[in-house]
Amino acid sequence: MGSMRSERKIEFKAYDTDGDWRTVEITPDASLSLLDVLQSNGFDIPGVCGGLALCGTCLVKVICGYEKLPPPDDEEAAMLEMLPDTNPKDRLSCQLPLSSIMNGMVFRLQNYE
Ligand code: FES
Repeated sequence: MGSMRSERKIEFKAYDTDGDWRTVEITPDASLSLLDVLQSNGFDIPGVCGGLALCGTCLVKVICGYEKLPPPDDEEAAMLEMLPDTNPKDRLSCQLPLSSIMNGMVFRLQNYE
């Protein structure tokens, strides 16, 4: 039963900066970040620092399901504070491990540069 559960796919939706959206269906894997998955699914999201919480170019707005995410850790919170014009539901996608809690969530790429 346990293994069946871990193999169950999740589905979330992401809008790119043009407002086009796509659904991503994937098996949860905590070794991947949301940034990794967005990139491998063809979304144009830079992630310049390679996931170190240092650039902010992986910023996404969480349109649906924000309350399910664990709060930002100190590094992420510090980076979010440094970015201009963020809103309270913005997160660094490189800091979000791909998890079953993302099922049904909706994100919007912010492409902060
Ligand atoms: S990729 Fe640089 S902060 Fe996420």
